[in-house]
Amino acid sequence: MAKPIIQVKALGKKYKIGATLRHDTLRDYLAHYIKSYGCSLKNKNNFRNSEKYTGLSSLKAKREFWALKDISFEVMQGEIIGIIGLNGAGKSTLLKVLSQITEPTEGESRIYGRVASLLEVGTGFHPELTGRENIFLNGAIMGMTRAEIKKKFDEIVDFSGVEEFIDTPVKRYSSGMYVRLAFAVAAHLEPEILLVDEVLAVGDAAFQKKCLGKMGNVVKEGRTVLFVSHNMGAVSSLCKRGILLSKGRIKTIGEVNNTIATYMQGTEKLSASENLINHPNRAKGFRPLLTKFSMGINNGIAYYGKPLEVKISYSFDQKIAVPQFVMSFHNDCGVKVFTLFSDYQPNNIPNSLQGIGEVVCKIESLPLLPGSYSVSLRLWQPGQKLDDIENVARFRVEWLERDIGQFNWDSSLGVVYVNAYWQLHNDSTMAPIY
Ligand SMILES: Nc1ncnc2c1ncn2[C@@H]1O[C@H](COP(=O)(O)OP(=O)(O)OP(=O)(O)O)[C@@H](O)[C@H]1O
Ligand SMILES: [Mg+2]
Repeated sequence: MAKPIIQVKALGKKYKIGATLRHDTLRDYLAHYIKSYGCSLKNKNNFRNSEKYTGLSSLKAKREFWALKDISFEVMQGEIIGIIGLNGAGKSTLLKVLSQITEPTEGESRIYGRVASLLEVGTGFHPELTGRENIFLNGAIMGMTRAEIKKKFDEIVDFSGVEEFIDTPVKRYSSGMYVRLAFAVAAHLEPEILLVDEVLAVGDAAFQKKCLGKMGNVVKEGRTVLFVSHNMGAVSSLCKRGILLSKGRIKTIGEVNNTIATYMQGTEKLSASENLINHPNRAKGFRPLLTKFSMGINNGIAYYGKPLEVKISYSFDQKIAVPQFVMSFHNDCGVKVFTLFSDYQPNNIPNSLQGIGEVVCKIESLPLLPGSYSVSLRLWQPGQKLDDIENVARFRVEWLERDIGQFNWDSSLGVVYVNAYWQLHNDSTMAPIY
């Protein structure tokens, strides 16, 4: 039976908020060591021991909290696992513990292989060290000898494109330069395990693509990747399994799209009813002629194939001739899925309106597939826009019952469900072509 390449058991990391730290992490201590003694680092075990150096901590604890608690999971060789969660959930801390940049407070993590980490800007490299020194630092942390690192050095510098700045402290790098070098290091030191923290957020589009492609290749070569990201598209396309962290604990671990769905349900602010008078999304220069918006649904959930009723209140201090209420529905990629017009569609709205009132729009059967959607609202009179509010409401569509077979139709398949009948057109006189 295959053996896990990463085993994490009951891992916990406690931080002391407001602590004064001399050397917060092993990396800080190593940076000090490299500056003082040059790159004479050979053996990883030396570093582990050297963390016990007594000058390491002068702590004045103010408050303690668990950034990670009761974390247990296993990763098999060749897996690519997405780690997701809200800001502060503990994702970076988990990668820092796994890459031995920081010690766990309790529990253990066993890693059977050479680890390279591409951590969030500010942790992967030490800011005070130059690009060159950081390459040696990273290699040393991976347990490589100075000679081994030297062999790879030119390749790394070449790939990163930061040759000119290689003897500049990385704190002077732009975030793009920094990430390029970090990526080059991780890609060329041939780790068995690659830990990647949110680098995609920093680079330009070409770099992001290169980075995603590289991670895919790393896995094809049988290596293992743990990938932290807020980009659900990238996580979903790269990873088979996902871990959802919430307040330092594992909330869900399993099939990646289920994990993402659990995350999205927990984070979305759904609002199907809004007072529009002081709405922050009203376009500049418009008075609040539309005053209230409300969808007849509970908890922000609407259902595919079921009726949906939307009410829009107005307050017109003057007569509005031929008012046109316009509602557009957008999916969560911002694509406008459909628009409804009060005057071009069947209606009984009078040709002019004044004072306070409410119009109701009834959709007989909602065609949207399960997913998240938002609504924008406009009021027109011929040739003139009178009110304009983007994103007035946010709601989810779900199945009430799975009445379209047992198949998991969802927003990964498109935005709307189109009914169709598939039939075998049988003609026994036709011979096979091949
Ligand atoms: N060195 C530290 N000292 C004290 N608290 C810390 C330290 N590093 C992280 N924390 C705290 O630990 C918690 C988890 O932080 P972490 O950086 O792991 O979150 P994250 O999931 O990576 O968030 P993000 O999505 O914003 O990157 C946060 O509350 C953070 O403030
Ligand atoms: Mg983080």
